[in-house]
Amino acid sequence: MKKSNQLVNGDVTGAQQNNCHDALVKGEDFQHLSTLPLPFLEWIDKESNHIFTVNSINGDFRYISNNVQQILGHNKEDVTRTNVLSWVHPDDYYYLRSKLPEETENHVHLTYRMKSKDGHYKWIESVISRIKYKHREYFVAYSMDISRMKETTKHLAQSEKMNVAGQLAAGIAHEIRNPLTSLKGFLQLMEAGVDVDGQYFKIMKEEIEKMESITSELLYISKPQPHHRKTVSLAELLADVCTLMRSQANMHEIDIRLITDTDHSDIECDPSQIKQVFINLIKNAIEEMLEGGVVQVKLRQTEAETIVEVQDEGPGIPETIKEKIHEPFFTTKENGTGLGLMITDQIIKEHYGHLTIKDAPVKGTIIRVTLPNHSG
Ligand SMILES: Nc1ncnc2c1ncn2[C@@H]1O[C@H](COP(=O)(O)OP(=O)(O)O)[C@@H](O)[C@H]1O
Ligand SMILES: [Mg+2]
Repeated sequence: MKKSNQLVNGDVTGAQQNNCHDALVKGEDFQHLSTLPLPFLEWIDKESNHIFTVNSINGDFRYISNNVQQILGHNKEDVTRTNVLSWVHPDDYYYLRSKLPEETENHVHLTYRMKSKDGHYKWIESVISRIKYKHREYFVAYSMDISRMKETTKHLAQSEKMNVAGQLAAGIAHEIRNPLTSLKGFLQLMEAGVDVDGQYFKIMKEEIEKMESITSELLYISKPQPHHRKTVSLAELLADVCTLMRSQANMHEIDIRLITDTDHSDIECDPSQIKQVFINLIKNAIEEMLEGGVVQVKLRQTEAETIVEVQDEGPGIPETIKEKIHEPFFTTKENGTGLGLMITDQIIKEHYGHLTIKDAPVKGTIIRVTLPNHSG
């Protein structure tokens, strides 16, 4: 083995150890990790809950710290012979590759899934830098298992979904009372022997279909859904969300307008999660408009991205709280949970998109969600 490779393989030579020992006796400061005596390096390896790795630019492992055994169950030697991409979840593969730093000295924070020894995927958060050493470049990273944290947020997201569904139920009950009353009226007419023509049947069918779509939408959003990405029409997805939210909006004299200026709105996403995003945003918009008005939901698509803006006519977000609204449990509402925007942010991040907030021209807020059309 060439000496230049020894460092990147994590080995500490006898000479280096001696230097370290001398330095220690002389009471010198240790400015670099590599100058630490071996027991200290071993302590880092054993006690840190971060896995340290060095990979070549194509992803082959050059070094991985021993605690890969505790964190992912893999034997250090088995991993070192492989390429990092062979452990990454297929859905996160292109994401990871596209986000790696292209210039040396740059670093990125990335969240993705990695396969553990038992075949399950664990959520990993890594800080990855690109470093040049002796004319070669490497990716150096420290990574942490954040699966537990992800699990907790998943439970929070589910309880928030149930909470939202509960709040929407009141509006939905209200919404389906009217068609039920008219259906009952028609039935009574028929019972009395009045000759109802085809026109009535058409109206009855439409009323039943409307009730069906609202109730199935409510069931869909309240049931935990498997997280699956597929290609869906965002225009149709938003139309479903608007149908559901209109039941709440109508009670507050709010009109929800869906404006789509495109026939193309297919995106690759987890539809149940993306629905949750727009339910949260439209719900927030409705809750701010105490005097009624219009919520506009505008959709447009470019070659690479789909952009949806939710615009309300509420009082806007005060400058003093703009920083805080994404924090979990921050709410200005008596019955708020403060979880809506945090969950929204997280879902959008998992879809590699972003959210921006700005003041609407006259009054109110515009929340813009930008999502890539393809997750790869
Ligand atoms: N469209 C909006 N206009 C004004 N304020 C908003 C808007 N959306 C969110 N906010 C503010 O952000 C806070 C956090 O929102 P969210 O995370 O959805 O929790 P919650 O709706 O339960 O309060 C809200 O309490 C509100 O103060
Ligand atoms: Mg909310």
